[in-house]
Amino acid sequence: MHENIEKLQIKFREAIENTGDLSQLENIRIQYLGKKGEITLLMRSMNQVPVDQRPIFGKRVNELKKLAEEMLEHKKSQLHSVHSEKRWEKERLDVTLPGRPFEIGKKHPLTMVLEEIEEIFTCMGFKIAEGPDVELDYYNFEALNMPKEHPARDMQDSFYINPEILLRTHTSPVQIRTMQAQAPELPVRIIAPGKAYRRDDDVTHSPMFHQVEGLVVDKGISLADLKGTLLLFAQEMFGKEREIRLRPSFFPFTEPSAEVDISCIICDGKGCRICGETGWLEILGSGMVHPKVLEISGYNPEEVTGYAFGMGVERIAMLKYGIDDIRLFYINDLRMLRNVK
Ligand code: DAH
Repeated sequence: MHENIEKLQIKFREAIENTGDLSQLENIRIQYLGKKGEITLLMRSMNQVPVDQRPIFGKRVNELKKLAEEMLEHKKSQLHSVHSEKRWEKERLDVTLPGRPFEIGKKHPLTMVLEEIEEIFTCMGFKIAEGPDVELDYYNFEALNMPKEHPARDMQDSFYINPEILLRTHTSPVQIRTMQAQAPELPVRIIAPGKAYRRDDDVTHSPMFHQVEGLVVDKGISLADLKGTLLLFAQEMFGKEREIRLRPSFFPFTEPSAEVDISCIICDGKGCRICGETGWLEILGSGMVHPKVLEISGYNPEEVTGYAFGMGVERIAMLKYGIDDIRLFYINDLRMLRNVK
């Protein structure tokens, strides 16, 4: 009997010593101290022990049970601390580590200028219109009073896709599309922001660039309306003290036509390097919509008149932010993008 108890104790001790994880330890507990565990069964076998040996047997088995429980507890707490140390290693946080720098993006300067132009004109009651970048020759030239043999077509070297289709060379075709869709409804009052494409590439010309077209058609529209609207635009965009002047020019789709200058935003009209000592900066082309353009678009030039204008967004952004190479807008140089306020 005593030998059995001794052997069981040794076996138990070995089992405990050889285990390294908590679930295995629980299995050992069940194996020895569970309902059908070896130590439990040994206690239950008391009635098979001769009466005179029972007290001493009972005492020994109780001792073994107590010892086993203590060893289990001890091992358990040992394993727990190893376990949490491992977890701590894995989940260790260095709270003294400096945070990762967090950079906030911002809008591209061209987007900011475009949005500002849109805001100024929509506040004046203009709607925003759009047209396709890949355009029919008809809308890009012909309907704008530039027939096939018209010399003005040479002014704009174009990206043709086939003889009838090209990348639009300006946003003016949106004038025709808008009027044709709306005629004979009045008034027409839109701006058309978007991309335009020309075979150009130098410090002030990019093969892809942005324009904002403007068009107003109604009864009794005059050059004074054009001038008043553009003066307000110039002052909103470049400061209250801005003045504008209209210089006679030529565009096939307007008559008369004018180029519009603003007083130089650098020298305030006194003359500097930026304005070529003239005191003026050219910012857009404009004019009264040509009767032929009104007619082809479904309006009667005897009854209505209109004005139109077209401005280069890059040109305006370059003036506003003092950028002297148009290509800086497209190469994503963060030093430039960050500096633009
Ligand atoms: N489409 C012209 C260009 O790209 C700009 C322009 C001039 C637009 C006069 C107009 C206008 O609407 O009336 O050079």
